Amino acid sequence: MQEHDATHIDTRCIHGGQEKCEVTGAVMPPIYTSSTYAQESPGVHKGYEYSRSHNVTRYSFERAIANLEGSGLSREQDTTNGGFAFSSGLAATATCLEMIDSGDCILAMDDMYGGTYRLLSRVRERSQGLRPIYIDMTNLDSVASTVKEHKPRMIWVESPTNPTLKVSDLEGIARIAEENGAIAVADNTFASPMLQRPLEAGMHVVMHSATKYLGGHSDVVGGALVTRDEEIAQRLRFLQNSIGSVMGPFDAYLCLRGVKTLAVRIQRHCENAMAIARMLENHPKVERVVYPGLESHPQHEVAARQMRLEGTPAFGGMITIFLKGGIDESRRFLETVSIFALAESLGGVESLIEHPAIMTHASVPAEARAKLGISDSLVRLSVGIERVDDLMADLERALDAV
Ligand SMILES: Cc1ncc(COP(=O)(O)O)c(C=O)c1O
Repeated sequence: MQEHDATHIDTRCIHGGQEKCEVTGAVMPPIYTSSTYAQESPGVHKGYEYSRSHNVTRYSFERAIANLEGSGLSREQDTTNGGFAFSSGLAATATCLEMIDSGDCILAMDDMYGGTYRLLSRVRERSQGLRPIYIDMTNLDSVASTVKEHKPRMIWVESPTNPTLKVSDLEGIARIAEENGAIAVADNTFASPMLQRPLEAGMHVVMHSATKYLGGHSDVVGGALVTRDEEIAQRLRFLQNSIGSVMGPFDAYLCLRGVKTLAVRIQRHCENAMAIARMLENHPKVERVVYPGLESHPQHEVAARQMRLEGTPAFGGMITIFLKGGIDESRRFLETVSIFALAESLGGVESLIEHPAIMTHASVPAEARAKLGISDSLVRLSVGIERVDDLMADLERALDAV
């Protein structure tokens, strides 16, 4: 089964880009651990030379994610249909950044994963001479005017953002990029291809931390890039092999296994998160709830248009709350939850909770955090797929202790 354009995305999670093993009929690809492949004569081989460049298990995951993101590239245009897997999300980002040159300007979202910010501001500014400009991309006019003025070669948007859940209009940003000859990249980690497919909105490249919803079980670290553009696919193939931060075959197997249940997991994440957001919205100990599904979210309308589960608006499993009080109240709350694990990361079947100012976004300077509203009372929830009543009871109990 190779062509899946006519099938629903739920079915493509399981079959997209996959084929049964020609030798054994194995339904799941074996984990190919071989680092090298025997050649019949120098240069005469079966398309596999060395595992950094060619690995069957990695290819399977790469084709799966390319299919889900709707790359539209055939195997003739690119061996893995424009999908590329890396050893982590940041390795994917780092490789993607190599498409632009020393001294180039990159326009980036002001609020984004702290590690992406750190890579741009503390590594690539120094080593590659990149000139990042951070702006709030929820405002398309400001994107258009900044692009006109600074002529960035790449536009890097995250939507929804980590951790303040800002939602940007991907179609609008892609249009501005296209008109100005910039490569538009979307970090789709928070939404997953179940809810949002940036390539269909006109973005050139999609990036994922596969560690999150794609893997889905908090047992693997990985990253992915997908492009719909044949020329970009050629460049990424060259860079993936030249830089070498590839996903290993064991991890590719876990990611592929995770993707198979993405549809059912995301549906439950969305249902649980919506119910919890509504509950927290009315809680006296909570100052404010940020969830794209709430009417109070500043970009709720964009989110409802852009994030959809089989045509119906759906908003993912991430919620950000501001507690009443400060660091002491946050600490007590985070120490008291018991089903929610106090841990970094997100997107797994189990619910996680964390404090970005101290944990995931400590690498963002305090001044920049303050500007973005990442305060001591901000707590981020990754709502899992447990029974929602148990999750609500856990949060109620912890809020009572605050
Ligand atoms: C939105 C987002 N992008 C990128 C990354 C980086 O991915 P990784 O941790 O797999 O390197 C993360 C990690 O938390 C993230 O949340």
